Amino acid sequence: NSNAPSIPVIATIDVGTTSTRAILFSEKGEEIAKHQIEYSTTASEAPDESTNTEQFRRRSSLMRHNEPIFTAEGIAISITDDIEIENNKASVGPTLRFPQPGWVECMPVHILANSVQCLTACLITLRKINQNPNLKVKYKVKAIGIANMRETTIVWSRKTGKPLSGGITWTDTRTSEIIQHLERITDEKKKEELKAKTGLPLSTYFSAAKLRWLLDNDDIIREEYEKGDGNLMFGTVDTWLIYHLTREKNFVSDVTNASRTYFMDLETKDYDDELLEFWDIDPTRIKLPKIVSSSEFYGSFTSPNLSHLGFHNKITQEAYDILKTIHGTPICGCLGDQSASLVGQLAVKPGSAKCTYGTGCFLLYNTGTRKLISEHGTLTTLGYWFPTLKGDAGEPHYALEGSIAVAGSIVQWLRDNLKLIEDAKDIGPLASRVGDSGGVVFIPAFSGLYAPYWDGGSRGTIFGMTQYTSSSHIARAALEGVCFQVRAILRAMAEDAGGSKDFLEEALSSQDENQPLSQLAVDGGMSKADEVLQIQADILGPCVTVKRAAISECTALGAAIAAGLSFKNEEERIWKDFDDVIEKIDGTGDDSTNKFVAKLPDVERRRNWKRWEKAVD
Ligand code: G3P
Repeated sequence: NSNAPSIPVIATIDVGTTSTRAILFSEKGEEIAKHQIEYSTTASEAPDESTNTEQFRRRSSLMRHNEPIFTAEGIAISITDDIEIENNKASVGPTLRFPQPGWVECMPVHILANSVQCLTACLITLRKINQNPNLKVKYKVKAIGIANMRETTIVWSRKTGKPLSGGITWTDTRTSEIIQHLERITDEKKKEELKAKTGLPLSTYFSAAKLRWLLDNDDIIREEYEKGDGNLMFGTVDTWLIYHLTREKNFVSDVTNASRTYFMDLETKDYDDELLEFWDIDPTRIKLPKIVSSSEFYGSFTSPNLSHLGFHNKITQEAYDILKTIHGTPICGCLGDQSASLVGQLAVKPGSAKCTYGTGCFLLYNTGTRKLISEHGTLTTLGYWFPTLKGDAGEPHYALEGSIAVAGSIVQWLRDNLKLIEDAKDIGPLASRVGDSGGVVFIPAFSGLYAPYWDGGSRGTIFGMTQYTSSSHIARAALEGVCFQVRAILRAMAEDAGGSKDFLEEALSSQDENQPLSQLAVDGGMSKADEVLQIQADILGPCVTVKRAAISECTALGAAIAAGLSFKNEEERIWKDFDDVIEKIDGTGDDSTNKFVAKLPDVERRRNWKRWEKAVD
């Protein structure tokens, strides 16, 4: 029915480290359509595209969201479409590869192709929904939002649009020597100044060292830099996507992503000469994207020309046709994925916090417009920056962040490398076959230890194995390894907030519901396992309740909210303001199945924590 009133939906692309997904959201936060592609992560499989195809295809189809979805009108739709790309090979091959120990590279063109593929699949679902004769409305994509893994560094040519090397992923540790060198030659005062300006410690984690490495080690990139003719472009994943998905080829970076490069001053929200000099980067020789807010018009959507970018698998005419239906749609919301989940969890009041267990695990504590610099190992990051309704710039919101490099990726590693499980969802049952780890401590420091320890030189280690140790003990210890770090981060944040070392034990014993951090709001893939959250609750103790978000796709939802709030004209806005978002999106959910409280006796919890601390030492 072409006269049916049209209901706006927001399309989001969420590029994680090990998967890409697209989701269409209604104003109530319902998922109208969804498609996800998970990457293969096994080192031996990744470099060879041909051998990888079958396994990848199998996994991709396993991950396809083919549960019935109920639209706002209560109509059930099953998503069973196959992917509309010739040979079904768009996503196969090494989107993520591990060429050497500690190296983690992603393929920028695959990231782009996977994003387009996921979006296409969602649009096909939407067409089906709209063709349903029982539906009295028509859904129409009104805006596009992006959430992305941060820090990952891509360098490309302005002339061709092609990347000049693999993207260096945030977990990659090839820059260890650069960092060690800088640590040695930089005095403490200077380090403090850098930390105050960027909110970040010197670490392999952030983009600057990755760009430095490329300029020092990649001949093509170095040559282009020396030529200095404006061909070289640097960007994080948001910039790469927006550049290729906008008709105008706009070259921008949202402020939350830019704050993770180590080139941006948190106060000015702009590049800083002193920081660029510190990394010996000449911005006249390599273009840096313009830093923009998280919610504004970045450009109009267009299908990227993947074959020009050297991508061999052509998109079919049908896919192009369906993508054309959203050509010109504004891309107008963008957040680094951890900021996106802070917004998607609706944790927008100062004092609220969220913890996302994705590939890594990231705890963000919203400090409002206050920029707190941690003295206990957490980062200061730009939480989000939304212009106000009146159209003025608005104030950025900051957050303290505890970053853990390895969370969901430990589950993938147990599955793909050790073959302890067949499917990621088997981890909970395997780990809970035993009541404890049998004395095993697993420190999953595959990329060094991040917050609050910041020890780039450490590596994954398993302690305390005996003949008694089983695969269940190892699996449990791996999950505990992530959860212990969450506890360490909470303690560090509590110290920064002025609490004592035993903040968790003492300050919260009042059982005051409004006490900051008395409740840990969690989301992300790994949080779907009850067993993981019970382990987390046991490790945190009785003062902190672990509460799973009712909305599972908080990251994508955050990007949708950013896009939906971007329209200058109030009439056009999908939500009037944040209060309206909170009112329309029901984030409460069923508490009984989503709340986890400690069951472990106190003595055991203290003993286990001591064992962890000793292992870290
Ligand atoms: O800082 C890295 C982070 O943005 C990656 O997130 O979703 O891949 O764990 P994720």
